[in-house]
Order: sequence, then C-alpha cells, then structure tokens
Amino acid sequence: MEIPEILLQKIAEAEHVAILTGAGVSAESGIKTFRDPDGLWAQLNPAELASVEGFMANPQLVWSWYRHRVEVINDAKPNPGHYAIAKMQDMFPKFTLITQNVDRLHHRAGSRKVIELHGNIVENHCFDCKSPFTGDTALPDGHLPVCPICGGRIRPSVVWFGEMLPVDAIEAAEEAAYSCDVFFSVGTSAEVYPAANLPVTAKRNGAFVVEVNPNFTVLSGYVDAKLAAPSGEALPVLLDEFGKYKKFIEESL
Ligand code: OAD
Repeated sequence: MEIPEILLQKIAEAEHVAILTGAGVSAESGIKTFRDPDGLWAQLNPAELASVEGFMANPQLVWSWYRHRVEVINDAKPNPGHYAIAKMQDMFPKFTLITQNVDRLHHRAGSRKVIELHGNIVENHCFDCKSPFTGDTALPDGHLPVCPICGGRIRPSVVWFGEMLPVDAIEAAEEAAYSCDVFFSVGTSAEVYPAANLPVTAKRNGAFVVEVNPNFTVLSGYVDAKLAAPSGEALPVLLDEFGKYKKFIEESL
C-alpha cells in the first residue's frame, strides 16, 4: 500500500494529531460493524435494541443482546490497528483519540486517554438514579439486574439512539477537531452525528484530513488523503513509512 508523501510531511510537521475511530477499527478483532452488508444493523433493529423506547418495551431482549456482545468483546483481542493508534499517542506533541466504539479495545491496546463518545459496554448504571452498578448482570434470561439503591432498572452505560452524548466527551472531541493539524477518520461510515461532524470541523479549521477505510464513505470525496485498506494493515504500514521518512529527513539536515 502506497502512503502519500504529503501525508508523511503533514504528520511530521503536526503539533496535534487527532483520531476518530469507529466499528471498522475493531472489525479485524472479530467484532461486527453496524452498516456493512454483514453488519449488525443489516440483521437487527436498532430501534428495538439501542433506544430508550426499545429498552422500556423489552428490557429482557435488550439485556440478552448486550450480554452476548459483552461475551464477544471479552473473547476478542486488540488488533494491529489498535496497537498502532496506541503507539501514536507518544509520537506527537499533542494527540487526541476519540472513539465511537464501546468495546474498550483501545484501552486494552494501551491507549491511555480515550474520549468515548458513545459510552462503553463494560460498565452499567441505574436508569433512574444514575448510580454506577457493579453487580452481576449475567443473570439467567428473564431476570433483570436491579439497582440496590433505588430499585430502578440497570442499563448498560452506552449511548442509545436519541440520547445526548456525554457533554465532556463531545466538547473535548470538538475542541480537538478545531485545533488539530491532522485528523484521521478510521473505520467509520461517518453517518452518525454528531461524531460525523468532527472530520468536517477539522477540515474547515485547516486540518489535513485522512480517511482509513477499505470502502467508500460519504467522507471519501472530501478528505485530503485516503488509505483504502483495513486499519490493521494500513496503520502499521503508515507508522513504518513515517519512521523511514523521519530518518531520511534527519539524515539530510
Ligand atoms: P459503521 O458500521 O457505520 O461503519 C463501519 C465502517 O468501517 C464502514 O465504513 C466500513 O467500510 C469500515 N470498515 C470495515 N472493516 C474495516 C477495517 N478492517 N478497517 C477499517 N475500516 C473498516 O460503524 P460506525 O461508523 O462506528 O452507535 O457507526 C457509528 C455508530 O453507529 C456506532 O457507534 C453505533 C452505531 O449505531 C450507537 O450504537 C449509538
């Protein structure tokens, strides 16, 4: 895979690199994406499984799906794309990692600070009093976890459709998009807002915007560079080429 020289130059000069990731970065870990032909939303109904209305209507169904997803995620391992992103956190004066993923694989790959726009699937809290819940949620089907403080319903700490994103997370993500020099959109269809606005904000504010995605997205015609390959292949190659480029520049000074 060819890495455009302009991209190597831009990241060599960058004071602040920001990365937005989506489900595609975890695809090579065996976790299904949402909107690909074999993705979750091709078979399942997001209104039933990922909305407050769906949870209220059938909490048993929602819990059995989340329990299944937690099992899949617990069995999965970070892939070379996650590890390359973790390496990048120490390569630039400033670095921001923003994810739409709830799987915590960035943390497990060693990323120290991750802005989680859509929450995470490993924590739970009370729907009513919002207290964190650390008890067992792996109850037999038909049994629902209950808040020991107020008796309310326990829910996964993810953001569902129609819900607000955590304010601190979206503010920090927007600030990074405004101020970064290079912005990577990795493994996302860029179809879900407000996350999908971040690459646009970055570009409007002068950042060099790069897409890493084997497929065409709504963003593909808009970006300054595209690495059309799976992130687990493209990002390690990028880091490798960047290392060679920096060495060459240093030696020619
Ligand atoms: P999508 O499923 O919408 O998009 C995944 C993207 O990853 C697609 O553009 C694929 O082409 C790309 N892709 C697939 N394999 C890849 C690989 N190995 N390397 C790089 N890219 C690859 O997932 P998201 O954009 O993350 O929200 O979806 C955004 C939100 O929609 C999710 O956070 C979730 C979902 O509904 C909520 O649940 C609130």
